[in-house]
Amino acid sequence: MSDLCQEVARRIGARLPGTVMIDRDLNALEIAREHHARYPIALLQSLGQSLPLPDDLGRYVVIGNGIHNFGAGEKPALFKEAFRVIRHGAGLFLNSAFYDGSVVQGTEHFYQETVRRGVRITRNLTSSETSQAVNAVSVKPEAIRQIDASTYASLARDVGFDDVRAHEMVVPMDQALWEAIADFSAYSQGALHHKFPADVACEAMKQATREVFQDPDFSRKVYGAVTVDGKVAVPRRWLWVTARKP
Ligand SMILES: C[S@@+](CC[C@H](N)C(=O)[O-])C[C@H]1O[C@@H](n2cnc3c(N)ncnc32)[C@H](O)[C@@H]1O
Repeated sequence: MSDLCQEVARRIGARLPGTVMIDRDLNALEIAREHHARYPIALLQSLGQSLPLPDDLGRYVVIGNGIHNFGAGEKPALFKEAFRVIRHGAGLFLNSAFYDGSVVQGTEHFYQETVRRGVRITRNLTSSETSQAVNAVSVKPEAIRQIDASTYASLARDVGFDDVRAHEMVVPMDQALWEAIADFSAYSQGALHHKFPADVACEAMKQATREVFQDPDFSRKVYGAVTVDGKVAVPRRWLWVTARKP
């Protein structure tokens, strides 16, 4: 954590108990800045499991589709931090599209095919100047295991939250959304078993996504594919968990 971030956090804590958006990745914060330009939010680069914020500060904490990237030991730490930084009576909201239960039956082929093509594409991408970087990739993040909705709810209760509710909803995800997801290194590197650096993995998974969606046999191969507003989409279940600090 840079001194600058510490300073921002100190000032926010002192003066503005408003919205603080946190991500460990600066690019993700830049995307958030563009999307939320109209709202007075503070952006803070930090690990979610150790927030540089004072106790009892916030009115709610939102964990936006990132908790699945936390390792087994880090997930409870994240809930603990969320509980610490919000006031009594304040709320927690989290969502995840990557939990145990998120794959809709019939859509498995989409994932298999995207990864298969992604691996092939990396061969072209890595054949020249990137090959050195590929060889340098050896560190795999702490084993990340997807957990189900009730386990997330239990983690929230374990740190003291009450009124914990889990909701699941099927979201039709079109090509643009899948390409945006492929831009997240945790997703693309994970899909390709951490054998490639982030830029190569993301580019390969984006190209693979395009190829799969443009396959003329797409709808026949991906049984669960749906069409929404004229666009083909692969449905995926999203989890929402809400809770309250008593
Ligand atoms: C799929 S993206 C979601 C981005 C955004 N929050 C949203 O809702 O669209 C997951 C994000 O989780 C972030 N992340 C993963 N592990 C983290 C950690 N330990 N602390 C903070 N952010 C983390 C990644 O950097 C990535 O930007």
